[in-house]
Amino acid sequence: MNEKKYEFEYEVYDDISQLDEQDAWLLNEARAVTEQAYAPYSKFHVGAVAMMENGEVVAGTNQENASYPVGICAERVLLGTVANLYPNVPVKTIAISYNGDEVKSDHPISPCGMCRQALLEYETRLKNPIRLILGGMEGKVYIIKTASLLLPFAFTSDELI
Ligand code: THU
Repeated sequence: MNEKKYEFEYEVYDDISQLDEQDAWLLNEARAVTEQAYAPYSKFHVGAVAMMENGEVVAGTNQENASYPVGICAERVLLGTVANLYPNVPVKTIAISYNGDEVKSDHPISPCGMCRQALLEYETRLKNPIRLILGGMEGKVYIIKTASLLLPFAFTSDELI
């Protein structure tokens, strides 16, 4: 028997003021775009904003539905938009923030399992790591070098060939 360990490094900042100018700007965009979320059921408004390799900026927000499972997370709305607006342009960084009517937005949230799978596929597809900046409307900020770190033992297209 061999015991193996999976661990990864990420950066922790006390708040947005410790980020460099570009990262702080992107996180502020993600905070602002939470206003565009359609989340009347969960009242949990998520904003995701991508800085593309070509300097363009693309936003996504969660879009819910009265038929609950139809709702889509901000991250996957964002990736779909990116793929259509700028096909073949890698995503450099995605900032993700949230604002809730019923919860405090004072710590980072991280993408759900389904979004981790989608982010990983986008990294593989464009052969480019996607850096994540995670933070609430206030409080600590995490920076993760590549989204794939969040999904060890991922199921990928390698299995299908
Ligand atoms: N949600 C996102 O948009 N992204 C996440 O990373 C976590 C959850 C959305 C889905 C749903 O509309 C609401 O937040 C509550 O789960």
